[in-house]
Amino acid sequence: MSSGREITSSTFGVVMEGTDPMIRPFDLAADAEMVLSWLASRQDIEFWNGRVPERGLTPATLREWHEDPDTRAFVLADPADKPVAYGEIWFDPSDRSAELAHLLVAPDHRGKGFGKMLTLALVAAAGHRSGYEVLLRVVPSNKSAIRCYESCGFQHASPERSRELNAGEQQEYLWMTLPVWSLSG
Ligand SMILES: CC(C)(COP(=O)(O)OP(=O)(O)OC[C@H]1O[C@@H](n2cnc3c(N)ncnc32)[C@H](O)[C@@H]1OP(=O)(O)O)[C@@H](O)C(=O)NCCC(=O)NCCS
Repeated sequence: MSSGREITSSTFGVVMEGTDPMIRPFDLAADAEMVLSWLASRQDIEFWNGRVPERGLTPATLREWHEDPDTRAFVLADPADKPVAYGEIWFDPSDRSAELAHLLVAPDHRGKGFGKMLTLALVAAAGHRSGYEVLLRVVPSNKSAIRCYESCGFQHASPERSRELNAGEQQEYLWMTLPVWSLSG
């Protein structure tokens, strides 16, 4: 599956320069309140998390999520280290997949290319596990997210693969995968 080539954001046509945001590991103490403040509406929460959790979303929720040893959380931070976007990678060694999850851009930064930059940076961060399939799920009505991922080269999973991935889920997601040619180009 892997070409052995180093995967960077520039592989996908986005070149990060010195003044551009850079991805770094999420820091619970420093970043959690800010990231959660970006969830400005109920729809944001539904799109971000698939549903609105009964207990709400607090820094403790994020800490619980990040306790899973196969979860890695990142922020895209500006040159002053102020986060502008957040996302996770869920590695699953059992089926050799890396799911990009919980992608979120600060509301005042949306529609300016940061979602695409975040997605590509997460793909690059996931790429070190060679042979892993990179995939993600979207609430089907989340048109801006679908457009963002399509723009990064993700394709809609086949009906068979979608059925397999949706088995056991509480709701039907739209699944997208990154074709291998996108990684080897
Ligand atoms: C979804 C989200 C991450 C996208 O980030 P963004 O910074 O707004 O997206 P970008 O500016 O990078 O846009 C990427 C592409 O999507 C398109 N796009 C973005 N928002 C769009 C919208 N509302 N309608 C149509 N297209 C849109 C852009 O035109 C661009 O396409 P192009 O590369 O062909 O020009 C962001 O809107 C967000 O945080 N939403 C709330 C949480 C959420 O839904 N998370 C996704 C969970 S799966």
